[in-house]
Amino acid sequence: MGAQVNEFEENMASFLNVRHAIGVASGSDALLLSLHALGLGHKDKVIVPTFTFFATAGAVSRLGATPVFVDIDPNSYNLDLNQVENILKKDQPIKAIIPVHLFGLPVDMQHLGTLAESYGLYLIEDACQAINADIPIGSSSSVRLMKAGTIGHAGCFSFFPSKNLGCFGDGGMVVTNDDDLAGKIRLLRVHGSQPKYFHKEIGYNSRLDTLQAAVLNIKLKYLNDWTYKRRLVASVYNAAFQSAGLQGKVKWPNLCEGHVFHQYVIEIDTRDDLLHYLNDRGIGAAVYYPLPLHLQECYRYLGYSKGSLPVAEHISKKILALPIDPELTQEQITYVVNIISEFINLTE
Ligand SMILES: Cc1ncc(COP(=O)(O)O)c(C=O)c1O
Repeated sequence: MGAQVNEFEENMASFLNVRHAIGVASGSDALLLSLHALGLGHKDKVIVPTFTFFATAGAVSRLGATPVFVDIDPNSYNLDLNQVENILKKDQPIKAIIPVHLFGLPVDMQHLGTLAESYGLYLIEDACQAINADIPIGSSSSVRLMKAGTIGHAGCFSFFPSKNLGCFGDGGMVVTNDDDLAGKIRLLRVHGSQPKYFHKEIGYNSRLDTLQAAVLNIKLKYLNDWTYKRRLVASVYNAAFQSAGLQGKVKWPNLCEGHVFHQYVIEIDTRDDLLHYLNDRGIGAAVYYPLPLHLQECYRYLGYSKGSLPVAEHISKKILALPIDPELTQEQITYVVNIISEFINLTE
């Protein structure tokens, strides 16, 4: 909680154009503290995509609430908003929704915001993979761009080293425009203590380290440039796949507006074999995520069966993340695509 933490909070609030930015110990804690501060707990149900990093649902469960898993759209890999609407129409008393801007691609927050408002739900954005993603908000006559994480009641960020803005260990942040919510989260991160050693709430030890904040203050200056370069890398990959004639064999992502490409993911039928082929040749491809959350062992008690959320189940078998980094060169990208081409020629 040193001076660099305050400085970083101010820098982030101004970068994201939001009233409050509160440093916490991790992205997982950012979710946990947001949900806690909004009063979520036992008997509450929270809509969560089944295809995300575990922390999104884990935070819900840690507070004694129940995640309601929803399938994803097969193209964006984000929450299928038609299914969200169908669940809300049935009179399941849902209290909140956590949209995840997966791989750096924003959820349609205009649509989701309208839904959340009409059903009186809290909206907590999991923007851990989507820092600096722009989202259009407003009607066609007056659209403005807002940053991912700043549209819902609270937005959560992770600064884990592999993130688009990463520190040298763990770190996270909650952002909000709600003064009361911000005050509560500031309290919760220091065991509810105010003044020191007098505890208003039962909270957590969830400070952002001063050392990490110092690193983040420097790195934040480069984020716009890095974001631009990530999009450039994605476009070079796409062009390389196109010119290698891999349409119909590999599905690669659209260069959607606002996408910050935390991951660059392709789909291919022979995913597991390709993964080994790439890894054997020193290419750090990886699978995010091999098993949707509704089928995880720890959620067996919720009673979801195989086939209940088929899009995520299907995608989890086909998806493969290729190396992406602002520093990746054209030569390295061509090398990766050439190896994929070679693999497809060998296995066809
Ligand atoms: C979508 C998503 N949510 C939450 C988290 C949790 O962040 P952290 O690892 O900082 O706890 C992550 C990071 O791994 C993530 O990718």
